[in-house]
Parts: sequence; structure tokens; C-alpha cells
Amino acid sequence: MTYSVAVAGASGYAGGELLRLLAAHPEFEVRTVTGHSSAGRPLIESQPHLRSLAHLTLGETTPEVLDGHDIVFFALPHGASGALTAQLRDVRLAVDCGADHRLQSAEDWAAFYGGEHHEAWTYGVPELIVATAGAGAAGTWDRQREEIAGATRIAAPGCNASTVALSLAPGIAAGVIEAEDIVSVLAVGPSGAGKAAKTHLLGAELMGTANPYAVGGTHRHIPEIKQSLRRAGAAAEPTISFTPVLVPMSRGILATTTARLAPGVTAEQVRSAWEDAYVGETFVHVLPEGQFPRTADTLGANTCLMGLAIDEAAGRVVVVAALDNLAKGTAGAAIQSANIALGLPEATGLSVDGVAP
Ligand SMILES: NC(=O)c1ccc[n+]([C@@H]2O[C@H](COP(=O)([O-])OP(=O)(O)OC[C@H]3O[C@@H](n4cnc5c(N)ncnc54)[C@H](OP(=O)(O)O)[C@@H]3O)[C@@H](O)[C@H]2O)c1
Repeated sequence: MTYSVAVAGASGYAGGELLRLLAAHPEFEVRTVTGHSSAGRPLIESQPHLRSLAHLTLGETTPEVLDGHDIVFFALPHGASGALTAQLRDVRLAVDCGADHRLQSAEDWAAFYGGEHHEAWTYGVPELIVATAGAGAAGTWDRQREEIAGATRIAAPGCNASTVALSLAPGIAAGVIEAEDIVSVLAVGPSGAGKAAKTHLLGAELMGTANPYAVGGTHRHIPEIKQSLRRAGAAAEPTISFTPVLVPMSRGILATTTARLAPGVTAEQVRSAWEDAYVGETFVHVLPEGQFPRTADTLGANTCLMGLAIDEAAGRVVVVAALDNLAKGTAGAAIQSANIALGLPEATGLSVDGVAP
């Protein structure tokens, strides 16, 4: 069966990556693309790398244009999709890459985003561990993919949020790290901030320098990370010091996250927690002892790579994780989740291989 697909926000970065992946998906056919200021223009003007979709013209982003497709992917600025998705009548599966349907807590939404809070949809990070009563032993955990199966509304993750949550969930679920006093510092590429012109994203501001931003607990992905860690079974309310740093690479996230080891755990227990958590996963790989990922190894791929070390003197685990913010960080996660929701093989249309150097 071929599923008809519409992409809203097709002129932007996340929309462009959705289209790049969808163009190679054997079961999905992109029929409709929409934009905002670029509506009425040929798609190829906004996405000159998408030659196979050069026949498409950007339409208006309205419920009337989007309704009637089997699947609609939304890649709009946060706050723009919530009201729109509520008006869909005839869409089997909607996947929102924006934040509007990610947070369960209206208080968190008000504190970090503001404006109307929309209901949380099924979270689109299939590999995330979900703690349930009776679970806890490695290999017996539930996964988010079980909730995604059959879902009709999915919230794709924030790119930094999924990187950090995937980095920590195994240790939290196994009880080998503490949920308080987590520290995460991320090198991030500016495509994570979208295509709209902003002065601090000009080439002259970014080339040859590293720029920290949202310092001091203000980044919007913090509540999303905490929500995931609670669901992974955090024994205490998580606290995280989270600092992203813009670096001169267009795509990619390298997140270095450290957490206190639980009293008495051994190095073997810690490594086993991560290896056992991801051993069967297609897209999340724990590297062998002593190896750490590079962002280039994940570019264009739906892969999250992580390396692990124990800093015995500091009493902390150090997890270094890399992924492509536009691929596994948003569009790839959205398509992987759509595959699961529709009962297709999870990896359909997605690659584990990056583009390097
Ligand atoms: N970039 C990433 O790495 C990443 C990762 C995870 C999640 N996301 C999420 O994905 C969403 C899109 O991000 P992006 O980076 O692709 O942003 P972007 O490059 O700025 O693209 C935004 C898209 O939304 C359209 N748009 C702008 N204002 C709109 C409005 N008021 N109503 C309807 N459409 C509007 C734009 O159309 P025109 O160009 O025609 O004006 C464009 O197609 C965001 O919610 C973001 O948080 C992005």
C-alpha cells in the first residue's frame, strides 16, 4: 500500500529533511507540500537539493489543504501547529515535529514556551525506556515504541532533548545513576534553530567561534528531558544543568552528559546498563569501551551513537552522544515513529550510515 503524505512547513530545515527522507521511502508518496511566506512558490526554490520533488509547488498551510492525506507531517515553528492539528478531520496519522504536543505539563509549557497548551501526543522516540510496574531488570523494560504502535497522533522530539534522554535513560532505569545533579553541555549546529533569518545565526557571527546560548536553565528542551527521565523511572525529581553551545557545523549535536553514580555500583554494572538497553536497537548504538562518537558519523543517518566512561575520581558517568539534529533528532524520528504506528518495518526508508568526513 502507498500512503499519501503532506508536509507542512516544507520550505524549512526540518521540512526539507522530512522530504529528503520521504522521497526515498518505498511506502510513502509526497503529494502535498505547504509553506507560509513561500506559499505559491516552487518547492525547489526553497529546497534546491531535492531534485526528485522539483515538480511540487508550496501550498498554503491550512486544514483544508492538509486534510484527506493518510499522513501529515508538521514542521512549523512552535505555537503554529497546535490550533491547526485540532482542525484536522480526515488524517489517519499526524506527526508534529514542533513542540506543541510534546509536554504533558501545562505549567511546563507556560514556563518555557507560553501561549496555549495543547494536549500531549504519543512521544516519538521509540528506543526510550518506559518504566512500568514489575520492570527493571535489563532486557525486560518497556519501550516507547510500544505506545507508538497504532498511534494516530505523534509528537516528534526536540533534537537536544532526545539526545540527552537517550543518553541517560538506561542508567536511570537500571538505578546505577542518580537523577539529581545531571550536567549536560552540547555542541550544536545552527540548523537546529531553523532557517528564519536571525542576526546571531549569521555566518559572520558563527564562523570560527563557539557561542553558548540559553545558559542558566532557560532552554526549552529542559522540561522535555525531565519528562522522559521521569518516565524512564527516575527515583527522584530530575535536575539538569543544560548548556548548548553553537559551533560552526551546519548539522549535528554532540552532547556530553554526566551524572552521579549511585552508591556502590561497579563499572561493569554501569556499562552493562547501557549495552543491555540498546543491544538490539537498529538506530541507537553504544560504542566499545574507550570509543566516542563524532557528529560526522551520524550526519544524514537515523543513528544516535554514544560512548561511555566512568570518571571514578568524580564519581560520575560521562556519556558522549552524537546525532544529526535534522535526521534522528527530528525528521528521522518522525518517519521511524510513523513506520511503527502504521505497522511497517521500523527502519523502512531510513539509513544507519552517516556521511563522513
Ligand atoms: N531544525 C531542527 O533541527 C529541528 C529539530 C527538532 C525539531 N524541530 C522543530 O521543527 C519545527 C520546524 O523547525 P525548522 O528548523 O524547520 O524551522 P524553519 O526552518 O524556520 O522552518 C519553518 C517552516 O514553517 C513555516 N512557517 C513559518 N511561520 C509559520 C506560521 N506562522 N504558520 C505556518 N507556517 C509557518 C515556514 O514557512 P516559510 O518559509 O514559507 O515562511 C517554514 O516552512 C520547529 O517547531 C522546531 O522546533 C526542528
